[in-house]
Amino acid sequence: MADYILAIDQGTTSSRAIVFDHSGSIHSTGQLEHEQILPRAGWVEHNAEEIWTNVREVVGLALTRGNLTHEDIAAVGITNQRETAVVWDRTTGKPVYNAIVWQDTRTQKICDELAALGGGAERYKEKVGLPLATYFSGPKIRWILDNVDGAREKAEAGDLMFGNTDSWVLWNMTGGVNGGVHVTDVTNASRTMLMDVRTLTWDEEIAAEMKIPVSMLPEIRSSSEVYGEGRKGGMVPGVPIAGILGDQQAATFGQACFEVGTAKNTYGTGNFMLLNTGTEPVQSKNGLLTTVCYKIGDAPAVYALEGAIAVTGSLIQWLRDNLGIIKDAAESETLANSVEDNGGAYFVPAFSGLFAPHWRSDARGALVGMTRYVNKGHIARAALEATAFQTREVLDAMNADSGVDLTELKVDGGMIANETLMQFQADILGVPVVRPKVAETTALGAAYAAGIAVGFWSGEQDVIDNWAEDKRWEPSMEDEAREKTYRNWKKAVTKTFDWVD
Ligand code: G3P
Repeated sequence: MADYILAIDQGTTSSRAIVFDHSGSIHSTGQLEHEQILPRAGWVEHNAEEIWTNVREVVGLALTRGNLTHEDIAAVGITNQRETAVVWDRTTGKPVYNAIVWQDTRTQKICDELAALGGGAERYKEKVGLPLATYFSGPKIRWILDNVDGAREKAEAGDLMFGNTDSWVLWNMTGGVNGGVHVTDVTNASRTMLMDVRTLTWDEEIAAEMKIPVSMLPEIRSSSEVYGEGRKGGMVPGVPIAGILGDQQAATFGQACFEVGTAKNTYGTGNFMLLNTGTEPVQSKNGLLTTVCYKIGDAPAVYALEGAIAVTGSLIQWLRDNLGIIKDAAESETLANSVEDNGGAYFVPAFSGLFAPHWRSDARGALVGMTRYVNKGHIARAALEATAFQTREVLDAMNADSGVDLTELKVDGGMIANETLMQFQADILGVPVVRPKVAETTALGAAYAAGIAVGFWSGEQDVIDNWAEDKRWEPSMEDEAREKTYRNWKKAVTKTFDWVD
């Protein structure tokens, strides 16, 4: 068998390809950012064709830099930004509209109308595990069918396909209009609001209420099995594509959170904490999502409770791109360290409303506690602290739902390079924060899912054996100081409500 597994991580800001060896170590990588299209306040789009072009290019980069050809690759795993909706024409292969990104809030009216049918925001929660919110794919598909000329007629005639970016990439990789495979995995399907989390099948009643023809939905499969192979003439011809996991579920898998009660937190554009709850879906009473965590081949699905936070790392990008007070993410740490504390300023980045545990789509961002004393160092610090405070809210919800207090938190994602943030995170949570040796756990999780399907790895034990701790931050803040600043944060959160007419 070939010596490597290739993972494609199609994320919110970039697409990456990472080649892993048998020990789970990185051999080579490629990465390209794509455009963030922001046509109006609250709207966020991506060009799906640009994404597909970038995916091909980064695969080429990773192979070339690693001095490899497709013959060195035993299997490909795909992981992706979840919820982002692509609708394309099955005959031409062209998207009918830009991909509507998970952060986009344009579907508020659709969500309100569905809620008004009875049951409010909890209308479908028992079945799909999710509250009605602009975050998920279903309302985004509905918006495209309602607003793009001719889309509804085409969809009803069976001519359109929907997918999150996993399905879009897989369909193109396996041949596109020439026999591409239209498939997704259970974890991605669990973010559409259209899948029954118990039966793991599309719920026809909900699809009918949302006016979405089931014929445009991909086939739901496990997260680890051979879906198809790379097309002739493509980057990886004949190589089995054998793993798909939504990026947050992939990170949970890559962090070896296989025991009930284990959790990880990923610091990306947003933050996503997932707690493994075992083979039965658990309904949250505290604003968390019920989601499928992974399903390996024919084994039963494993579920998770998830705390999704919309804006964490993207707030640092906003400081860079919209305010211009830093040149790059690393400078946010230097700037935050130019002051001793937040100077009384609290920054609640409710740019896409507030997700877990509040689910307030009427919220908008607020910078409060401002005085003439506050300078850009304090603002950078408040922005970093926002990530840690939002994570504390989610951890409190997890502890309340599970009835057991987490004793440590495994972390991954881009922002964990920020030592100031990691220390503050441990301080605000009051539990140690633990970083693994391979921080690219998202891509790694997808690689494991694909590698397990083709026998490259034997199973979860290999993942456990390969996982190693790199660094641990112990909490060092006095209880009183911690609770005081957290109280101020909570007060700041209340200032963001009721901003949308
Ligand atoms: O639910 C959205 C999430 O999957 C996006 O993750 O890492 O692309 O920001 P990321």
